[in-house]
Amino acid sequence: MTKEQALLIEGGKRLNGTVRCSGAKNSILPLVAAAIAVRDVVTFQNVPDIADLRSLLELITAMGITVVSFKDGELTLDSRGPIEPRVENTNGYSLRGTQTMVGALLAREHRAMLPSLGGCSIGARPIDLHIKGLRAMGTSFEWKDGYLVGQAAALKACDVYLDFPSVGATENLLLAAALAEGTTRVFNAAQEPEVYDLISFLNKAGARIVPVFPFGFRIEGVGQLHGTSHRIIGDRIEAGTLMIATAITQGESTITGIDARHIWSVIAKLRETGANVDVQGDDAIVVQGVEGYRSTDIRTLTFPGYPTDAQPQMISYLTLARGNSVVVESIFENRFGAILELERMGARIKVTEETAIIEGVESLNSATVQAKDLRGGAALVLAGLAAHGTTTVKSLRHIDRGYEALDAKLCQLGASITRVDREEG
Ligand code: UD1
Repeated sequence: MTKEQALLIEGGKRLNGTVRCSGAKNSILPLVAAAIAVRDVVTFQNVPDIADLRSLLELITAMGITVVSFKDGELTLDSRGPIEPRVENTNGYSLRGTQTMVGALLAREHRAMLPSLGGCSIGARPIDLHIKGLRAMGTSFEWKDGYLVGQAAALKACDVYLDFPSVGATENLLLAAALAEGTTRVFNAAQEPEVYDLISFLNKAGARIVPVFPFGFRIEGVGQLHGTSHRIIGDRIEAGTLMIATAITQGESTITGIDARHIWSVIAKLRETGANVDVQGDDAIVVQGVEGYRSTDIRTLTFPGYPTDAQPQMISYLTLARGNSVVVESIFENRFGAILELERMGARIKVTEETAIIEGVESLNSATVQAKDLRGGAALVLAGLAAHGTTTVKSLRHIDRGYEALDAKLCQLGASITRVDREEG
């Protein structure tokens, strides 16, 4: 038995009010890696206090980086001293967010050692594209004693074509190329807002990275980078989650701290179901849910398509829509982990390989359900908000990995959620 936290959610409360998004989880993790390559003092603002970041900070401290301070959303790191270019596997828990450490360490130390990667169990998640690109830049890789060891006497610029626009591979190549000799071009590169956030930081630190049409980047290597400060973008997936939470409870909320262009696909899909969504100014979205909303179909895609990270939450919403919805997951092969749990709450969903067919039902009932991954866990919380009775969502650690106080933010909007300790087998 282990001690775990769970959420007790009393369903049926309409969300109402204003809530602010935290900074993006998928920005801060690669940005911390980038700070290592900078070899100077850097400060980030709008930093989310999430468990994945706390784990990452422990890992980089063990490597020799100084966490000068982390308070009120501001994180200062000092990477001037000598470091050990090896990421440890702490508590048997290796962190997916360390994947961009490879490019950063190769850029800085010409050597990187990484344990096999963790993160959500939503698919095989290989790193062959990262390795292929970094090899083309002159890195040799081998597996030694459970570590992937990369070594490059000198990183050399080249043209890289990614077979798939992988976010992590693109970020690794940007980091490696920023300090390589010559000009690297990456084609079919990821276009996610967090990739542009990384570029914006690197360019402030002295890198020379420009987008090339279509979907590529040109990186002119520089001799060194320098310290700077950077405010990270709002978390579009958190915004999407809060938007869907509002819609599923037929409430009305204003979500601030988010650039609506980063989450347009979710706005569009909510509108298709009949919900009202308005964009206000540069950083606020107003969502008004409606009773008897319609079904819709979704296919997850790379940005600006519908994000895979907001797919489970949308499935929860569609369980209560009028009619049948079809959701196709095209990015990760194992991302329907929450569906079995939703079925225990009365949802009717049929899954065949990468497709889920959701038959809308009148209502969901409460149940004790288990979060199995980050976004699937959030999806169960949303279902709990709409269900009759009190739903228990177990294994909260998955949700805390990537959401900053999701329960507190929902309570701020009027939800009735209690966080409790419990024994889990
Ligand atoms: C990042 C995000 C994650 C999001 C995902 C897709 C971070 C820390 N995580 O993950 O939240 O769900 O983007 O938007 O930013 N692939 C390969 N070979 C590779 C790399 C990837 O086959 O070398 C495949 C993956 O298995 C997956 C797809 O490409 O099927 C997308 O992966 P990728 O874009 O790399 O996602 P991550 O960077 O891991």
